[in-house]
Amino acid sequence: MNFKYLTTLLFVSLFFSCTQNKEVENLEKSKKVFIDELLSKMTLEEKIGQLNLPSLGDFTTGQATNSNIGKKIEQGLVGGLFNIKSVAKIKEVQRVAVEKSRLKIPLLFGMDVVHGYETTFPIPLGTSCSWDMDLIKNMAKMAAKEASADGICWTFSPMVDISRDPRWGRVAESGGEDSYLGSQISRAMVQGYQGNTLADKQTIMSCVKHFALYGAPEAGRDYNTVDMSRGRMFNDYFPPYKAAVDAGVGSIMASFNEIEGIPATGNKWLMTDILRDKWKFNGFVVTDYTGVNEMIDHGMGDLQTVSALALNAGIDMDMVGEGFLTTLKKSIDENKVSINQLDAAVRRILEAKYDLGLFDDPYKYCDEQRAKTEIFTPENRAFAQKVATESFVLLKNDNQVLPLKTTQKVALVGPLADAKENMPGTWSVATDFSKAISLKTTLSEKLGSNLLYAKGSNLDYNQEFEKRVGVFGKSINRDGKTDDVLNNEAIAIAKKSDIILFAIGESAEMSGESSSRSNIEIPQAQKDLLKKLKALNKPIVLVLFTGRPLALTEESQLADAILNVWFPGTEAGPAITEVLYGAVNPSGKLSMTFPRNVGQVPIYYSHKNTGRPLSDEKREKCEFEKFRSNYLDVCNTPLFPFGYGLSYTTFEYSSVKISTTKLSRKESLEVTVDVTNTGDFDGKEVVQLYIRDLVGSVTRPVKELKGFQKVFLKKGEVKTVKFIITEEDLKFYDFNLDFVAESGKFEVFIGTNSDTRNKILFELI
Ligand code: BGC
Repeated sequence: MNFKYLTTLLFVSLFFSCTQNKEVENLEKSKKVFIDELLSKMTLEEKIGQLNLPSLGDFTTGQATNSNIGKKIEQGLVGGLFNIKSVAKIKEVQRVAVEKSRLKIPLLFGMDVVHGYETTFPIPLGTSCSWDMDLIKNMAKMAAKEASADGICWTFSPMVDISRDPRWGRVAESGGEDSYLGSQISRAMVQGYQGNTLADKQTIMSCVKHFALYGAPEAGRDYNTVDMSRGRMFNDYFPPYKAAVDAGVGSIMASFNEIEGIPATGNKWLMTDILRDKWKFNGFVVTDYTGVNEMIDHGMGDLQTVSALALNAGIDMDMVGEGFLTTLKKSIDENKVSINQLDAAVRRILEAKYDLGLFDDPYKYCDEQRAKTEIFTPENRAFAQKVATESFVLLKNDNQVLPLKTTQKVALVGPLADAKENMPGTWSVATDFSKAISLKTTLSEKLGSNLLYAKGSNLDYNQEFEKRVGVFGKSINRDGKTDDVLNNEAIAIAKKSDIILFAIGESAEMSGESSSRSNIEIPQAQKDLLKKLKALNKPIVLVLFTGRPLALTEESQLADAILNVWFPGTEAGPAITEVLYGAVNPSGKLSMTFPRNVGQVPIYYSHKNTGRPLSDEKREKCEFEKFRSNYLDVCNTPLFPFGYGLSYTTFEYSSVKISTTKLSRKESLEVTVDVTNTGDFDGKEVVQLYIRDLVGSVTRPVKELKGFQKVFLKKGEVKTVKFIITEEDLKFYDFNLDFVAESGKFEVFIGTNSDTRNKILFELI
């Protein structure tokens, strides 16, 4: 390239970037002028109304005008609504806002589009195990496309709460235990939902939740108290929320829990000092469902006090509780809330509406044609099936029982085999359960008379428990036969078969919101059946349905193979069948540690070392040592570590190399490894890189994920996988919460899961 050409190129790109910046500036200016003018026309009541977010629930068309909510919309007392499904209904409600209210301000329409819309993807804990950020981004993009075709412009997703406690049911909605992986997922989801611009018709505004630390409730009980050090907050729990902010997320939802004694909803340090001042977030903050009112029970004062506390802390929108609507005027009259604070909140809501293009066209998302043609399409379903296959984690596969052969006679048993309503998993607001496909449906089409089926056991012996976890139209259809009769039916077909396929696990509503468990094992009725089947001496494959890591110590001994399919979404049956029969080779890797028993919880790979650690040898051999940090009755190791997952093929790691053993702050170093597919199938492997900071001014974790790559290797193929490490990757929040990389020695581990011992040393100078 000659000099003249280079200068011209530089000039042209400078010119374009200046023009682009000018354009953005102009747009921002016209937005400001528009909103200033609108704000100046608004009464105090109308301003407060913009901050009000009721839930309309599932109302029927024709109700909007006469309902109580319709009247409020007419009076300008509603800013948005959520969980209404269909263009017809949304259009009707929007019409009330833009035709009957004084200022004709359009409403926002939100929904928990958490893992897909009608085309439902696996639960988020499942998709996180794909470790495939393009896939996750495209999934969010497709969910946005379907939701926006049906009237929705705002989703309460992604949920990025780090959690290390599988008793907490909401781990199902999260990306698991790790802040590095969680941050990548957070960014990918926000980018997928919001695309390049919210002006687009097929993108929707994202709302990252639940800010903050909601995934660390004491004892794993939902909504419980959270108490943690700032070091842990900043290093482990905050990064995924911050990643969403850095990716330009439009809104944030406050969490229910307290932080250092002040509920998140009323926590000014969190919502203003950190979120706005430090992270420069400029979207709006919405409470969680009745989050303001719940501060009364937290012991923060009466409704007026807690509402003022929330607004002053930096909350902009009040979900459901109407604390703002009913008390803010009084608080303003009494000088407990300033008009400036109120205006700032209203402005942020109006800006979101402006960015979404609702002032130009309030019916932008109400296109009946799109609703007819863009939802639950064959292409979307095919993609959901692909995502599902990528989320499955093969936990065990002795003697290569899997993949199965179509010539084998299969006994399909278990309460999850024919439970299509349970396939989408928790948070499936828009799913049409009748369209989900069970494993039994697909397998009987594929195998015909080679498939024998018997339920074999109910979900649980306890009928009351089964009712409790069969809510939201997701009954597991309890069978009235006695347990013995059910067991014997399964045993009878198993005797006639070559292989036993047991669809075992939890029902969809055993995880998710308000679904904490103190016992994280498979329900006893299913465990007992498994033991009886084991006595038949036939190979047993467990297809495991779960919304959380379970304690599978017994099952992992009894079964020959375990394929963890989480809750795979609407395309469950075809996706599981593809993997069971080897059309797709499983490649998922756990994003959350599986403990041996509930007593090990919280258990996570990136723990600290303690002053009395168990030696690596003893840890591996599960040997007890008095006065060391270990248990009398269980090993320190988990059953399956973070990052773990098998494949039908095998991979070998060799020649780990580092470009330099001394890294200076301005340079980078390269770590390479050769990965060989040594087995009989083509397959994908997630190559993982961890570091350990050996000495720090504060104690540092024994391992931290700092990079991963999912590579495809044909059978016999070798690939050199390369990672780059810079000073940035070595930074952490120190005692003063400064983000620093301290000079000294680091170990780099590279391998197939977090247990890798493949290490190499370097020094940051
Ligand atoms: C949940 C949120 C959800 C909201 C609205 C709450 O109970 O905690 O995650 O977005 O309801 O449905």
